[in-house]
Amino acid sequence: MYTAAAWTHNESASEYIWKGMNHMETFDAAYFDRGIERRGTNAVKWDGMYRQHGDKDMIPMWVADMDFPSPPAIQAAVARVAAQGTWGYTLVTEEDAKALCGFWKRRHNVEIETDQVLMSPCVVTGMRISVQALTMPGDGVLINPPVYGPFYQAVRESGRQVIESPMILEEGRYHLNFTDMEEKLASHAASAILFCSPHNPCGRVWTEAEMSELLALSRKYGTPLICDEIHAEFVYAPARHVSILELADPMDAVVMLCAASKTFNVAGLQQSAMVSRNPQIRRRLATCRDRAGVVTGNPFSLAATRAAYTDCDAWLDGLLQYLVENKDIVMEHARSWKQVRVLPLEATYLMWLDCRELGLSQEELLKALLDAHICVNDGRFFGPLGEGFVRLNIGCPRAQLRAALACLDKVFCR
Ligand SMILES: Cc1ncc(COP(=O)(O)O)c(C=O)c1O
Repeated sequence: MYTAAAWTHNESASEYIWKGMNHMETFDAAYFDRGIERRGTNAVKWDGMYRQHGDKDMIPMWVADMDFPSPPAIQAAVARVAAQGTWGYTLVTEEDAKALCGFWKRRHNVEIETDQVLMSPCVVTGMRISVQALTMPGDGVLINPPVYGPFYQAVRESGRQVIESPMILEEGRYHLNFTDMEEKLASHAASAILFCSPHNPCGRVWTEAEMSELLALSRKYGTPLICDEIHAEFVYAPARHVSILELADPMDAVVMLCAASKTFNVAGLQQSAMVSRNPQIRRRLATCRDRAGVVTGNPFSLAATRAAYTDCDAWLDGLLQYLVENKDIVMEHARSWKQVRVLPLEATYLMWLDCRELGLSQEELLKALLDAHICVNDGRFFGPLGEGFVRLNIGCPRAQLRAALACLDKVFCR
């Protein structure tokens, strides 16, 4: 019998009440409302925050994982591996790749063959392998800031140069600057594109037209395209995730990075994949991966990921419904914030808040938020263009979300 637990928020931000209880296996709002106790598990989001700020009243709305239990099927799969009692070297099998292919066909209508999948521990590992495999030291790699901070490090720490093509924020929505991107490819300033789709932290879902234009640029200049699709599942209707694999031909120099980690809240298990239809690209990726001694084969991670990809669709559907409502609650609430604009969330559970009109320096803004007992991500984590912004993680029970909104009011409504 799967046992979940309940927690409720007790007005004061410091009081979290935790109760064990049996759980009915329907993934409705009541299920997600219960959340899960993570304090004391060394969760970066919770215990890392306490360690950093020493404030037990603080509400964690930063690190991109969720305060929900992972699906029961994953818990059962991990428990089965735990029951083995010994965890020696473990095969990565065809079944692991098959589970991924089945999921992508079912959820995104994307055809992937098992031999097109290369396993890797984290998506960021796959990103670094891709950059190193497909470019030369000193080459430029194009990114579109503000973007997930490790994009910068993946490029720089690989001995390559970051070439920024900032997105344009127009009428409250971000757009790619294709003219600028093309200039940077045409001049050979950049010899690869590292792209985030859907986009963290801007919450954009790229349309088929935008993805096609991006692919056309990659083809025109022979520039490899590395597409991080870790947030693919968190796309809200009417938008639809258009994977680069839906558009690319087998000979395109395209790599798609994906994982079950964000979707099913198993990021700590560290299992992801690099997918390419192009055999030459795959050979280069495999060589680079093997040269670095990067291996997968953690029995817990593989079992969890197989279960995620095969047995958790109902949980995921329930989660998405819950997140849509969380998003709507924030958007509605934010109408009372006259100087803070919440960018429309087309995808991800990470909201991007434009606080520039508050007239505070970034340090003042962050301090005010910490003083209000809320921990969000500093916009500068996403590059210099994140100055004046913060990122709010809404992947949490509603009681926690509402408590966080009350904290934000103290800073945004004064
Ligand atoms: C766009 C993007 N890529 C990669 C990651 C990290 O993935 P992993 O933990 O598998 O390296 C994140 C985490 O927030 C992310 O937002």
